[in-house]
Amino acid sequence: MNKEKFYITTPIYYPSDKLHIGHSYCTVATDAMARYKRARGYDVMFLTGTDEHGQKIERIANEHGVTPKEYVDEIVKSVKELWKLMNISYDRYIRTTDDYHVKAVQKIFRALYDKGEIYKDEYEGLYCTPCESFFTEKDLVDGKCPDCGRPVEKVKEESYFFRLSKYTDRIIKLLEDHPEFLEPASRRNEMINNFLKPGLKDLCVSRTSFKWGIPVDFDEGHIVYVWVDALSNYITAMGYGSDDESDFNKYWPADVHVVGKEIVRFHTIIWPAILMALDLPLPKKIFGHGWLIIDGGKMSKSKGNVVDPVYLCEKYGVDAVRYFLLREIAFGQDGNFTNEALISRINSDLANDFGNLLSRTVGMIDRYFGGTLPAEQKENALDKEIKALCAQTVKNVEKYYDDMLFSDALSEIWTFIRRLNKYIDETAPWVMAKDESRKAELAGVLYVLAEGLRIVSILIEPCMPNTPKLCRTQLGIAGEEAWDSAHTFGLLPREVSVTKGEAIFPRIDVKKELAAIEKEAEKKAKEAKKTEKKTEKKAEKENKEINIDDFGKVVMKVGKILECRRVENSDKLLVSQVKIGSEVRQIVSGIAKWYSPEDITGKKVVVITNLKAVKLRGVLSQGMLLAASSGDELKLVSVDGDIEDGAVIS
Ligand code: MSP
Repeated sequence: MNKEKFYITTPIYYPSDKLHIGHSYCTVATDAMARYKRARGYDVMFLTGTDEHGQKIERIANEHGVTPKEYVDEIVKSVKELWKLMNISYDRYIRTTDDYHVKAVQKIFRALYDKGEIYKDEYEGLYCTPCESFFTEKDLVDGKCPDCGRPVEKVKEESYFFRLSKYTDRIIKLLEDHPEFLEPASRRNEMINNFLKPGLKDLCVSRTSFKWGIPVDFDEGHIVYVWVDALSNYITAMGYGSDDESDFNKYWPADVHVVGKEIVRFHTIIWPAILMALDLPLPKKIFGHGWLIIDGGKMSKSKGNVVDPVYLCEKYGVDAVRYFLLREIAFGQDGNFTNEALISRINSDLANDFGNLLSRTVGMIDRYFGGTLPAEQKENALDKEIKALCAQTVKNVEKYYDDMLFSDALSEIWTFIRRLNKYIDETAPWVMAKDESRKAELAGVLYVLAEGLRIVSILIEPCMPNTPKLCRTQLGIAGEEAWDSAHTFGLLPREVSVTKGEAIFPRIDVKKELAAIEKEAEKKAKEAKKTEKKTEKKAEKENKEINIDDFGKVVMKVGKILECRRVENSDKLLVSQVKIGSEVRQIVSGIAKWYSPEDITGKKVVVITNLKAVKLRGVLSQGMLLAASSGDELKLVSVDGDIEDGAVIS
């Protein structure tokens, strides 16, 4: 039988900074859904990735003195490491710098142009670079970007425009006729009243003022607007626009795009309009989740709170962090992040309720029966109620997971866990243990607890992928437990054989922990200040005026490259023999990415001749070749017209 497909996506992240715990929120939720659907037998395609183009990335890379590609490569590495650490089970990872994506976006842009959906005009308006969004005066809040509150810039350039305005009515109809298209419902009114009812304007979809993006392949100098580039990932990752569209045909339309609330607008207006223009089916659902709020604002650099997901996962365990994110914040609403709240959830829900239930159950089977329950077991009067609650819990949890209401699902599971703890107190196994004639009754009670825990271990698995195994190992269950086995109470073999283990969630000493966090936060704040100072110093250097004497200290001459070769074991360096008047100097330069030795042999270049000699990769360099760089480009500086080498530049 063919499995039903389920295609789910996260937004692709801007690799502009290290990811914080807020970023992982959305990916953890998407992962929980993907795991749940897999457990229910779906053929799941879970897509995530990185959105690597745009002016913002170009600027940041410049500030760091590296090319945008070098910059994003580094961050993407850490993003992938984080997802590995957090057990994110994505099936595919797209980078918008991937060749196949670039080509497919060019194809999409051209197709829209050929269909008359895109036309050329002049854009004059306001642009928020950090958000990569265009605004009009009236969109601004206190003269600043309505999304992030930062200053906007005036831009005027020849651009291509997408005929977004003509889709206004179709998109209103889409949102009104298909309430399931955008959830939660509150976001629908916001889109209709704030953006659609006032009428959409055509959208500027190309830029010419920077280079780091996908070039419009039929008009040099134009770069595809980063949101058109980014949104297209959902189809290009499935092979749309490539030679093999089989995955696209299988998985598209997406079943759900999970996105943060601030980008719902792009996903429910611009994205459907682009798809309509391409005559493609629309995604079935956009789920707009809320934000994890810290210090009263959308999560940013923290004061006194540690928001680094790597630190948190290493300290408390991945499942504890995942549990907190999914339990604390009702999916769709905003929620607060504090380290206190995280620790308190770990102590109360995980260590106290769940951890205790497991260690008490295993401990009693061990103590009273030497680790293995006897086959002879007697029902307790309360068992009926426990079994009924268990069946109801499974039903409710499935319903909540289906609706992506993870917090409700977990809350439901924990109600059952607490009920089992209460069942221990009510049945008082320690009293039964004293009475030889009640052994079967005692074994029956402990079996109910173990079986309850088995079912809990199945229900929590989408949210907490590591814990079920730890729990089952202690209960003597080898291997996986199929989801559907949670529907039947009593599948665990009667003669349960347990193995006592460590506490799966050790209690945390709150006071000690908060002091450690404060220390860590101070360390992080210091590091951040240091980086800020470095950046400031660099900017200062760039802006600082010098006088003619300062300039006079640098001796520059025209040189002619006689010979050039690559430096061994380096893919960045070239070493050139440069004739400067009567002398020949050896100069090493980091230009191998842009020039091959043959390209520059014979070229006249500008050389700084009074720079102290240094060794680079063990090769002596007696000067420096001047070069100009912008974004990902680099060009050697040369003189205008022919002049003898050795000529002094002043
Ligand atoms: N690159 C775009 C998405 C393009 S999708 C075609 C983008 N990237 S982002 O890195 O800025 O944000 C990625 C996701 O992280 C967004 O859904 C955003 O809402 C989410 N979050 C960023 N900070 C967050 C919190 N503090 N809390 C919850 N989600 C957060 O937007």
